[in-house]
Amino acid sequence: MPITINPLTDCFGAEILGVDITKSVDDETFEQIREAFNKYSVLVFHDQDLNDEQQIAFSRRFGPLESTMKNDFTGGGGLINNLSNVDEKNEMISPEDKRMYHLSANMLWHSDSSFKKIPAKASLLSAREVPPEGGETEYASTRAAYDALPDEKKAMLEGLVAVHSLAYSRSLISPDLMDEAFKNEVPPVKQILVRTIPETGEKALFIGSHASHIVGWPIEEGRALLKELLEWATQPQFVYRHKWRPKDLVMWDNRRCLHRGRPWDTSKYRRVMHRTTIAGDGSTV
Ligand code: OGA
Ligand code: MN
Repeated sequence: MPITINPLTDCFGAEILGVDITKSVDDETFEQIREAFNKYSVLVFHDQDLNDEQQIAFSRRFGPLESTMKNDFTGGGGLINNLSNVDEKNEMISPEDKRMYHLSANMLWHSDSSFKKIPAKASLLSAREVPPEGGETEYASTRAAYDALPDEKKAMLEGLVAVHSLAYSRSLISPDLMDEAFKNEVPPVKQILVRTIPETGEKALFIGSHASHIVGWPIEEGRALLKELLEWATQPQFVYRHKWRPKDLVMWDNRRCLHRGRPWDTSKYRRVMHRTTIAGDGSTV
């Protein structure tokens, strides 16, 4: 069945209509979705009343899934990241709870799992319950942002390598969020600063909150460059803001965009979001 593709901004993002992911998607339709993903980086599907099994089954068609971290309360080593302010007893987690500090780290611009040796290719986030206001997710195209850089800047960035570290990005929220076991699970890794997307040959900046510094540069100089690039890449012309409706599924390419959550009143409203993550093909350095 032909799908309908509605672009969301001038440079990336598209809404996909005419697919029911709760049922098995035929190969021809799936190929159209894959092509749209390669072209648009962020895909929005509405009215997908998914359970975890259906979400996992659809996600797996894009490639092997990444497991969550054992020490991370949102995953515990399974395939689903439960990024909700609701606990296993279905009760709201207090805004004061340490778990909410971990969740708030999602409000810094980042690329999922860029702190892993093999960073994630894509993520699929299913909105099971959404607050009536706030709690949007913003996406920034690091492909469009790279493309718009002056040639001299592109030449300067070529070949640079950044160190990405979850301990670093969590320390920006609070210094004592991670214990030693958690830090040992995710030691710092190196990632190329400008990556090439194999499917399209495009280049994109690989930056975000986990990027700590530049290999071979004084720490503060590297941080200043990373900050400058982040400010460049998250200018309004490169950003799509997604206002969630219940049962939305949004899929994004972690190689070609950054994302961040926006605040909502966590003392008042539930927000239940389940994520699956498509594993990357290999290391970037
Ligand atoms: C994620 C994430 C932000 C949000 O799912 O990886 O960062 O708005 N989510 O929930
Ligand atoms: Mn994320």
